[in-house]
Amino acid sequence: MEEALYSKYGFFTNEKVRSKKSGDFLTSPEVSEYFGKIINKWIQKSNLDLNITEFGSGTGSLIEQIKIKNKFAVEKSSTARTELSQKNIQNASNLEELTFKNSDLVFGNEVLDNIPCSIAVYKDGKWQEKIVCFNDGIFSYDFVEARTKTVEWIEWNRIKADENIDVEIQTNIDIFLEKIISKLSPKNILFFDYGYEQTDRSKRKYRSLLRTYKDHHLSVDPILEPGNVDITYDINFSAVIKKLKTLGYESKLSLQRDFLISNGFDEYFDNLQKKLLLSEGMENLKINSQLSGLKALIDSNGLGGFYCLEAKKI
Ligand SMILES: C[S@@+](CC[C@H](N)C(=O)[O-])C[C@H]1O[C@@H](n2cnc3c(N)ncnc32)[C@H](O)[C@@H]1O
Repeated sequence: MEEALYSKYGFFTNEKVRSKKSGDFLTSPEVSEYFGKIINKWIQKSNLDLNITEFGSGTGSLIEQIKIKNKFAVEKSSTARTELSQKNIQNASNLEELTFKNSDLVFGNEVLDNIPCSIAVYKDGKWQEKIVCFNDGIFSYDFVEARTKTVEWIEWNRIKADENIDVEIQTNIDIFLEKIISKLSPKNILFFDYGYEQTDRSKRKYRSLLRTYKDHHLSVDPILEPGNVDITYDINFSAVIKKLKTLGYESKLSLQRDFLISNGFDEYFDNLQKKLLLSEGMENLKINSQLSGLKALIDSNGLGGFYCLEAKKI
């Protein structure tokens, strides 16, 4: 996953910026500018202004909406960073490049699901890991005994062995959080992403929650077109919350829909509705399109069903 997404020929590294209308997937800030506007309101209401840092900014559509001077984007993809610089958004390729030591807020939209995971499978009475082999120019899968760190992660998260369910192992998300917290000790953390709570995993009908996207559609098995497709997975938020607890953070998990509604969605919606009634022609079309974008953000079967993880330093 790391190679296929971030190496020289990786999905995020080759020339195209992926998270925009002409790209391969549409994210909340790309669907509606009101996503950023509502988060901006939440930031101001919460009095956060020191070194507000976004991870995985993509085109910068969300951070653009944050009306604070003291803001930074950390983005791994050089293609996306070029776009951030063109928009005059201060950016860095990784955490180590940041020159400050504290932050009021670290946030990100759909970044956790692009942090490479590994896959564990309970087979023949023991935990094994699915690996990718490369022979004579062909990729294939095989299984090897699970690494100690993988088994420890499974046990720590009390994940039950089930031969019919693959487990996406999020040790890299744990490391990502550890590094951010050790360097910036943010007062607040805010992540939006698709995912689930551990107790609900068995309700999901899929064996694996890892999948690929291309041109806004589900795509092929990851080894069939590495570099050409996005590889992503549903986040086990219970594991993220457990990790944050050990790092001294108390979390609150809600649906994106509920977060937006609690933080001013209705006000924006009502204002647009009023404007719509008074508008004509092009203006009317524009407002209509803004209203559909706004509604898409809270659609329970789509973006509204994503999770919002708010964490606070204890
Ligand atoms: C799905 S895109 C989301 C882009 C944007 N946040 C949005 O909502 O439109 C995920 C982005 O996270 C970036 N990314 C992944 N891991 C990262 C990391 N460890 N640090 C910084 N950026 C990362 C990828 O390069 C990619 O641009």
